Amino acid sequence: MKPTVRPRTPHFSSGPCAKRPGWTPAALDGALVGRSHRSKPGKAKLAAVIDDSRAILGIPPAHRVAIVPGSDTGAVEMALWSLLGARGVDVLAWESFGEGWAADITKQLKLADVRVLKAGYGALPDLAQVDFARDVVFTWNGTTSGVRVPDGDWIPTDREGLTICDATSAVFAMELPWDRLDVVTWSWQKVLGGEGAHGMIVLSPRAVARLESYTPPWPLPKIFRMTKGGKLIEGLFEGETINTPSMLCVEDALDSLAWARSVGGLAGLVARADRNAAAIARWVDATPWVAHLAGRPEIRSTTSVCLAIVDPWFQGLDPKARAETAKRLAGLLEAEGVGYDLAAYRDAPPGLRIWAGATVETADLEALFPWLDWAYAEIRAAAAA
Ligand SMILES: Cc1ncc(COP(=O)(O)O)c(C=O)c1O
Repeated sequence: MKPTVRPRTPHFSSGPCAKRPGWTPAALDGALVGRSHRSKPGKAKLAAVIDDSRAILGIPPAHRVAIVPGSDTGAVEMALWSLLGARGVDVLAWESFGEGWAADITKQLKLADVRVLKAGYGALPDLAQVDFARDVVFTWNGTTSGVRVPDGDWIPTDREGLTICDATSAVFAMELPWDRLDVVTWSWQKVLGGEGAHGMIVLSPRAVARLESYTPPWPLPKIFRMTKGGKLIEGLFEGETINTPSMLCVEDALDSLAWARSVGGLAGLVARADRNAAAIARWVDATPWVAHLAGRPEIRSTTSVCLAIVDPWFQGLDPKARAETAKRLAGLLEAEGVGYDLAAYRDAPPGLRIWAGATVETADLEALFPWLDWAYAEIRAAAAA
């Protein structure tokens, strides 16, 4: 039977993620459009994004925080291009984004001394193999496989190399150990439901020391440059962006940060994602045709929850038919207007990916599950006919 209750907000995309509950374009009414981002009020808004992010996330005072171009990709790549080459590198890859950073390091930067520690979709590489005398590049939460590192205990506080962490689908939903991370990056478009385009980068004092003592042998585009004359560009970490940001996106980021405070700050945000992930896990446990792609519960993402279709009928299809069937499932939900962007990432095993980050309401997930069951039953019935 077709369910009757619909999610109020059918937005379950893993990026851009659902806007915060109650968001309307009126949230942008105070945007400083048509004004210079270098004007006094413009700079104040940019500085407020930095200060609010720092306060909500509990970033230590000695760490620098900046708004940078190019969303999370821009933030990660400016770190890789600016910092790597001083030591050997261990890069961890267990899904598409980690693989992308590994490709940057080996094929674009062409570093010679690189170890790529890999695992397939659903698993993590052996974290005990990581050598912290080297620089270490990894993703906190692998958005395309729904696998995250369980915690930061595997990272020593007294390491020699730098840790560079793409945390875009983790920050504001998971606790991060700031003393174990030298570079942390994210985009506004993820957990707080902001807009794409801009990235954030956090640098530890050790990362700043590397920037000021090491000059990479390759040219650095202007949009990657964090130093001038061997010194950190301090203004960048006070809201003087490298190039022009969108003041509409800035206003939206400020709105999302105000909402984050209203739900209890970081603890409230983490609790919301945990509650959502637990609701999905309850449905998965009760549903024979799906299973978490992530094997062990402690490495399961609480934001990008990836599910495999384990029904024997589906498993018996050839790979092309499996991919088409999973796409049809997501298409049916979209056509009904009950769940958008639920298909697994294009490079991941065919299945479902449900965003469970802080802006998603648990009640909307609870309303989605009967639709998922209905859509799968429809597809099975059509195949049997
Ligand atoms: C882990 C991870 N890294 C990087 C990116 C790229 O982010 P952006 O498109 O914001 O640059 C994403 C986007 O989904 C991601 O999930």
